[in-house]
Amino acid sequence: MVSRVIPVDPFDLVIFGGTGDLARRKILPGLFRRYCSGQMPADARIIGAARSDLDADGYRQLVRDAIDEFGGKTTCNDVDAFLANLDYVTVDARGDQGWEELAGKMRPGVIHAHYFSVGPGLFGDIAERLNRFGIAHDDSRVVVEKPFGRDLASAKELNASLAAQFDESQIYRIDHYLGKETVQNLMALRFGNLLFEPLWNAQYIDHIQITVAETVGVGGRGAYYDKSGAMRDMVQNHLMQLLCLIAMEPPSKFEPDSVRDEKLKVIRALQPLEPHEIVRGQYEANDTQSGYREDAENDRSSTESYIALKVALANWRWSGVPFYLRTGKRLSARSSEIAVVFKKMPHSIFEESDNEQANILAIQLQPNEGMTLDVTIKEPGPGGMRLVHVPLDMTFAEALGEDADAPDAYERLIMDVIRGNQTLFMRGDEVEAAWRWTDPIISGWQARNDVPKTYDIGSSGPMDAHMLLHRDGRKWRDIKQ
Ligand code: BG6
Repeated sequence: MVSRVIPVDPFDLVIFGGTGDLARRKILPGLFRRYCSGQMPADARIIGAARSDLDADGYRQLVRDAIDEFGGKTTCNDVDAFLANLDYVTVDARGDQGWEELAGKMRPGVIHAHYFSVGPGLFGDIAERLNRFGIAHDDSRVVVEKPFGRDLASAKELNASLAAQFDESQIYRIDHYLGKETVQNLMALRFGNLLFEPLWNAQYIDHIQITVAETVGVGGRGAYYDKSGAMRDMVQNHLMQLLCLIAMEPPSKFEPDSVRDEKLKVIRALQPLEPHEIVRGQYEANDTQSGYREDAENDRSSTESYIALKVALANWRWSGVPFYLRTGKRLSARSSEIAVVFKKMPHSIFEESDNEQANILAIQLQPNEGMTLDVTIKEPGPGGMRLVHVPLDMTFAEALGEDADAPDAYERLIMDVIRGNQTLFMRGDEVEAAWRWTDPIISGWQARNDVPKTYDIGSSGPMDAHMLLHRDGRKWRDIKQ
């Protein structure tokens, strides 16, 4: 199998916050890899825009260093040719400096995209100046990052400040989970195979588990994280998107609004949560490693670094099927997985019915992308009809060879911006609906002065999270890489 790289049209991409962490770690190395793959045309241009007083050469050096540090695996040595496409302008997002210069740099006749790799507090200022200085036009695209607000009210404000300047069809809200190859594969799996869809409902599915486990702590970004917590940082966006893709009805077409309409219906079907359906946790220091409170530099913090939820969707397809969601820092392994646990057989013809277990379809999102389907077979040998449960294993790297070496989520998403394809980006109403469900959960904790349970570093989370499933006669899957 040979993957096809189709070059995108020539573009001018302005990266506001072009010297910042996200730009250096993800956006610029990602663009370099797309350049090396032949997808980014030779005459595409990237213009860094930030407060720092740099010239184009200074910026090229900064980008060269970023590629050295974060460029990852590429066989391409053509850094100089890539850097030649870079330019830089010093802009003041809240003042007038630099904007006319930027306007003068934009080439007519090519695609214009503006990446707001800055805090949400600057979205409105930059959007307004892009119009006031005549830089934006009807075809310009703007790309914004999470956090898209911290509650419904702030998300509405952000949406309004962007809508005052741009049409919704020009706004690309990034959730980088949607750019992950296996996450897109969820749609291919569900809607490209006849096999699963007839079983994909409350009649055959017992429950679904969604796990996004990380081994990293919050050290280094504690100040941001402590105001956010796992619910805002991961659930409201990434886990919600995974839930949508697993639970949505088939869209009539794989195109932006058909897909996003269906996702929105899932979010709107989410039932409010009761306190006993939520477990919050905080990792605790041990002899050698610091705990959450030290990492966050807040010794009284009640922010959660772990959360587990039992979620229900009030619709025909999923009535009575619990979705168990969990995510946390400093857990035993870095592993993201969606497990679809089917119901047990209605009747057993075998004597050893104890050995019969449910089929489980486990979709491993990272780090080793693949799928396993647990099935029951006969234990080999002459000892009668004994049953064993074995996984049918498909690691995408083995099945697809080099083609499994997927581009990083950001690479895919930036190319989609240039192609003008919004399918993998969140629409304003989706984000607002997600906050509408999240807000009362968070305000409930505040009203109750809820304090997270502690958990050990390297564990699978607090004991109470196990009880959440145990009470229902179920069990979390092991977190393993
Ligand atoms: C980010 C969160 O959006 O996603 C981080 O802010 C988290 O806290 C990260 O670590 C996880 O992303 P990935 O791609 O490593 O799973």
